Amino acid sequence: MYTEKVMEHFQNPRNMGEIENASGIGTVGNAKCGDIMRMFLDIDETGVIRDVKFKTFGCGAAVATSSMATELVKGKTVQEALQVTNKAVMEALDGLPPVKVHCSLLAEEAIHAALWDYAEKNGMQIEGLEKPKTDIGEEEVEEEY
Ligand code: FES
Repeated sequence: MYTEKVMEHFQNPRNMGEIENASGIGTVGNAKCGDIMRMFLDIDETGVIRDVKFKTFGCGAAVATSSMATELVKGKTVQEALQVTNKAVMEALDGLPPVKVHCSLLAEEAIHAALWDYAEKNGMQIEGLEKPKTDIGEEEVEEEY
């Protein structure tokens, strides 16, 4: 049911953890499955994503998509990171079963939420970035654990 790449990223997730004093943090959740994903971005003064880490409390596909998403945005500019859609993440993983597509959506939303947080902290607007709907925020997450 899962591709080799999905299994590989699930078993050896890249960039797992957190970044202290991150430039932007995005937390999103899916109410149906209850899975939660958090992305930390370290963005330098030229707008390049220097480092990225994630924490995912969720299914295997959510772990694999988070891992792949971090690989895809690392070293990219903010604008380029916006192009990392759930489709791009799925393609990079050689596909996901249809029932797991929402997991990859969580990865895209978590990146967007972290970029939104970065923009807000710096009083800037990122062209093409819309306020993430599913950012459930810090407080609510703590209660979920
Ligand atoms: Fe919900 Fe995978 S089952 S994120």
